[in-house]
Amino acid sequence: MKILLVGSGGREHALGLGLHADPECTELHVAPGNPGIAAFAQCHPLDITDNESIVNLAQKLDVDLVVIGPEIPLVNGVADLLRAAGISVFGPSKAAAQLEGSKNFAKEVMADAGVPTARSFTCTTQEEIEKALDAFNAPYVVKDDGLAAGKGVVVTRNRDEALAHALNCKRVVIEEYLDGPEVSLFGISDGKTIIPMQPAQDFKRAFDNDSGPNTGGMGAYSPLPWAPSDIIEDTYTKVLAPMIAEMAARGTPFVGLLYAGLALTNHGTRVIEFNARFGDPETQVLIPLLKTPLASLLYKAATRNLEGVTLQWRDESAVTVVLAADGYPASPKTGGTINGIPAIESVSIFHAGTEQKDNELVSAGGRVLTVTGTGIDLTEARDRAYRAISQISLAGSFYRSDIALNASVAEKGN
Ligand code: AMP
Ligand code: GLY
Repeated sequence: MKILLVGSGGREHALGLGLHADPECTELHVAPGNPGIAAFAQCHPLDITDNESIVNLAQKLDVDLVVIGPEIPLVNGVADLLRAAGISVFGPSKAAAQLEGSKNFAKEVMADAGVPTARSFTCTTQEEIEKALDAFNAPYVVKDDGLAAGKGVVVTRNRDEALAHALNCKRVVIEEYLDGPEVSLFGISDGKTIIPMQPAQDFKRAFDNDSGPNTGGMGAYSPLPWAPSDIIEDTYTKVLAPMIAEMAARGTPFVGLLYAGLALTNHGTRVIEFNARFGDPETQVLIPLLKTPLASLLYKAATRNLEGVTLQWRDESAVTVVLAADGYPASPKTGGTINGIPAIESVSIFHAGTEQKDNELVSAGGRVLTVTGTGIDLTEARDRAYRAISQISLAGSFYRSDIALNASVAEKGN
């Protein structure tokens, strides 16, 4: 099977390795890819916002499957164009990708499907906004309705700040604050069957102890030793299966990766948000733990053939830590030389924002590398990830020192 994977981050590096490891994958192309991916796949320059060039490349390479990594091409409708050209694709249609593209749409589908989420109001005028803020009180949760590259959500106790953000959005969803640990749980869907993956936890704030600004994600780990033992079944029954059924009933089946961002509250599981693609950096811990061959799995989803499939996992833990550039997330510095990338057993170093310049590897984005350690438990996985990341040098770069720390302490108490 010939596969084209679209994207260039740490998520695509991990997905690419997973696809490449499946003997069914005879040829792997990645567009645009990155220097880490170029070590095992053929990379092609590409503007991921240009639907036509994605379709042209897939046709020219005559691939059997296209896997779309990031949300932008999905929300732009590239999956529809690929399917119209007769190419199988792992990734939702434009209509189904609205689960990520519009917070208001996601709320409507959840309401129709009976999926538990925060109570919310969708507002367009200042009057509606003020009324909604006063209906909930602090902490205020204010979400831009549309895609905002991680900058759309403001959670604050300051009403003026909440109001200012809301007024900056064309349409805004204001919702109840959900208190409780957050979990990312992904389902692989063929439009009618959805297969849950094991849960992961992502660290969104830039600095230790969840301080500093929101980011795309500074680290992740899986599995979650502290989570309720029925979390996968519970999320499947209450969230994933009803969402897939509702999308199919609307005539817009969801084919691809449905990412449920959950809060485990005292009143039960609530959906914080959906994404329409693999999460980054959760993918960098899930793929190294997944035993089921990835290329065949995603092909079955793309061709509506998932019924009866179950996933196999390694009996191990994984921890990933992001090396971020100086100034990330506000204004990351790029172009710094990266040195000292180690080769350590049970450690994978995924490239996220790197570039090959002459004979040097330089930084080219806010999140530069994602370093994953695996081991018999979180403690061993963490030790390996931190031992590796501490050897890498890039001027001004930083990483969190507390990824999976509490969970690894809790694990020892078990
Ligand atoms: P998002 O950009 O949608 O991933 O949201 C960013 C972060 O905002 C989430 O990971 C949560 O930590 C937080 N958040 C979003 N909605 C809520 C909510 N209703 N209650 C509490 N925190 C929230
Ligand atoms: N890890 C958060 C995201 O992928 O959106």
